[in-house]
Amino acid sequence: MLNEKLNQISADFQSEISSVTDIQKLEDIRIKYFSRNGLISLLFDELINVSNEDKPILGKSLNLFRNKAQEDFNSIKIKLESKNDSGENLIDISLPGNVQPFGSKHILTQTLDEIKSIFKGLGFSVYEGPELESDYYNFEALNFAPDHPARDMQDTFFINEDFLLRTHTSPVQIRLMESHKPPVRAIMPGRVYRSEAVSARSYCMFHQVEGLYVDTDVTFAELKGTLVSFAKQFYGDDIKYRFRASFFPFTEPSAEMDITCFLCHGSGCKICKQTGWLEILGCGMVDPNVYKHVGYDPEKYTGYAFGMGIERTAMLKYGIDDIRIFFENDFRFLKQF
Ligand code: PHE
Repeated sequence: MLNEKLNQISADFQSEISSVTDIQKLEDIRIKYFSRNGLISLLFDELINVSNEDKPILGKSLNLFRNKAQEDFNSIKIKLESKNDSGENLIDISLPGNVQPFGSKHILTQTLDEIKSIFKGLGFSVYEGPELESDYYNFEALNFAPDHPARDMQDTFFINEDFLLRTHTSPVQIRLMESHKPPVRAIMPGRVYRSEAVSARSYCMFHQVEGLYVDTDVTFAELKGTLVSFAKQFYGDDIKYRFRASFFPFTEPSAEMDITCFLCHGSGCKICKQTGWLEILGCGMVDPNVYKHVGYDPEKYTGYAFGMGIERTAMLKYGIDDIRIFFENDFRFLKQF
């Protein structure tokens, strides 16, 4: 009797396990056959009623069936689980891919690149100097008097008595002339630092481009010609310009260059503070006292220098009204350029 039952259950199990296609149905099979009250357990329970004679043989058959059934069950389970897995993680190559955002050059880098390329076209090379400078290069060799206000702790980040973070790119002029005999013609871009309260109009760090040309017989007219050519290429052919007398310790005479406001074309607006003019750079003829520091003969050589802020230049050109935004890495700002 038990023998027939075993054959029946074994046959049922075989047909069920060989046709199962999903994990849930497999779980039903596990409960039906292998649980505490499952069919296999019940078969073993019935062994009590079997005669002592038949018991060893039937017991062996039951054990064989149970082990074989467990093996079959396990292998089907592994198959179904792996099938399930590969289904879930299957890559659908017909779906559109995730598009990675492209990076772009920071607007300050783009502005500097444009300034560089214009001056390269005018015969200038590019030269760079250190951001950590000595008092000598930043002030003394540039003819700053010992009591000049820029030498005050309030305006300059001093590292110690002798070293400071350069407050302008003009010390690179000195380094260039020290290491090169005239003629020299280069622009010198870089970071500069000033101990100023941070606001929409000023930041403790910004960028400048310095320019220097020294040779025999360099004139103020050449300075004007070069800067006007630059301004027209950078801001547009239709701008008007003017040079206003100014003062820098290392140039004499000195000037500031204004162009007509690109926004209102001179009629007056918020950007130009109703004046119609925008100041774009400082410039002048190199002061003979500077030549003395670099071993150039002031009787033989003349030259001009100029300097402009890159943030200011970009702010004017693109109508940006807060300098802090350059350094915040806000994607919404950066990706506009
Ligand atoms: N170094 C000056 C500044 O920071 C700019 C300048 C450079 C002026 C060269 C004249 C000549 O304001």
